[in-house]
Amino acid sequence: MDFRHHPLPLRELPAFEADALLIAVHGPAKELGLPKPLATLLEEAIEQGDFDVKGGRSLYLHRPAGVKAQRVLFVGAGSASAKALRGAVNKAVAAVKELGVKHVAVAAAGFGALEAAHAEAAVLAAADALYVYRHTKPSAPKPGSLRKLTLLSSADEAPAVAAGLSRAVAIAEGVTLAREYANRPGNHCRPRDLADAAKDLGKQFKLKVEVFDRAGIEKIGMGSFLSVTRGSEEPPRFIVLRYEGAAKSQAPVVLVGKGITFDTGGISLKPAPEMDEMKFDMGGAASVLGTFRAIAQLKPKINLVGLIPTCENMPDGRATKPGDVVTSLSGQTIEVLNTDAEGRLILCDALTYAERFKPQAVVDIATLTGACVIALGNLRSGLFSPDDELAAALLAAGEAAQDGAWRMPLDEEYEEGLKSNFADVGNVGGRAGGAITAAMFLKRFTKAYRWAHLDIAGTAWKSGGAKGGTGRPVGLLTHFVLSQVGQGEAAAAPGKAPARKRSRA
Ligand code: BES
Ligand code: MN
Ligand code: ZN
Repeated sequence: MDFRHHPLPLRELPAFEADALLIAVHGPAKELGLPKPLATLLEEAIEQGDFDVKGGRSLYLHRPAGVKAQRVLFVGAGSASAKALRGAVNKAVAAVKELGVKHVAVAAAGFGALEAAHAEAAVLAAADALYVYRHTKPSAPKPGSLRKLTLLSSADEAPAVAAGLSRAVAIAEGVTLAREYANRPGNHCRPRDLADAAKDLGKQFKLKVEVFDRAGIEKIGMGSFLSVTRGSEEPPRFIVLRYEGAAKSQAPVVLVGKGITFDTGGISLKPAPEMDEMKFDMGGAASVLGTFRAIAQLKPKINLVGLIPTCENMPDGRATKPGDVVTSLSGQTIEVLNTDAEGRLILCDALTYAERFKPQAVVDIATLTGACVIALGNLRSGLFSPDDELAAALLAAGEAAQDGAWRMPLDEEYEEGLKSNFADVGNVGGRAGGAITAAMFLKRFTKAYRWAHLDIAGTAWKSGGAKGGTGRPVGLLTHFVLSQVGQGEAAAAPGKAPARKRSRA
């Protein structure tokens, strides 16, 4: 799909050549600034009760007289926000994608000045509407003939719109990659398949990619990670990706993604209903791959490291049993009270591994707890961090990307439930505050750097009729990484304190 930007005043809209002209509208018809004959067509339709600007409704016109475009589709947006434009464009592209259109143009009327966020919203909405999962369903409707989307804006808006567009094209590619891998079932997306995906990305974008197999992981000493793979016939992988956009002396941002390609719960077996959705338990890993895809395309001057521990969580004669005690890479022993709390067991070793990069910040991303879904539903990801500055940067990135998160607490009292009589720590607290105790567990392994945790259990995929990966939080992460450019200096310089404020909540 080819996304373009073209500066064009609204009054020249009727003369623009495209197979379809999609016009998102907001506000009273007379104040939209649309030229004739578009204004007349719209006003007549409203008069006849066929359209309502407010209603989130749409109006399709085939070869309207006086308009160069073969088709015109008006869509009511409901507000002038980027979010509203996203909804309108999503609807409009979905409506025309199966028609014989190759080139669609998107315009917005009544939005005031378009900002970068609007351009980003329009591109992401279109990419979302055009994605089709085919890997194990080749009979799925073929993506239509649509090849090109031109976003129209005024000349004043052009610089912001162009910047938003190129960022969004990269994010959209990353989101699509993350969705695609999340959607692939457990027998098609195995740890080795994620490793191959990382290697392919590496080849395509000249990233350094290192993949450790079981023997390699043993050699590193990741006893906690390995305890999760014990019940599985499918060998684990530990994937290290590196994007080097800045001097080697600059401390990197490290992203750590949970890559459980299928979570049965292990010996603490999950109930059967909806267990299929545990193929999405590698959503964190997929979002790391997607973010690398976006960043590698945008080429910011920053160093980025991606760490993906990936395996299956299966029951078996050799599987870890409740009560087993394992030794993590950090040296802390862990009593595995519930084998279904496996995400934290693979993440803690990757978090310890992250120390060797002397990072400026580490963010882990994981479909970690059902409790987070209960707390926040499917709208916002759970954000946990003892560092106010880092938390603020991540929250702001989420808002900018329309990929929101919400901060959750980490008071030390929450750690009480993790106490064990038989190990340094247990892997579960009680049912209450389950998303927080999971984060408290991870926090024990993050003493050496600024750290944040994103629980994406509610946001990485959708259930029900539209079941499928969302590609979240690639948008949030990409915006966050871009916001950190130039903030890693000095942190890696020997003997020099990091030049930043550290605020511990
Ligand atoms: N992958 C799940 C979390 C999950 C469950 C995400 C349902 C989305 C929907 C995770 O490995 C898990 O099983 N967590 C347990 C933890 C519990 C045993 C402390 C959970 O949330 O039930
Ligand atoms: Mn689990
Ligand atoms: Zn899991």
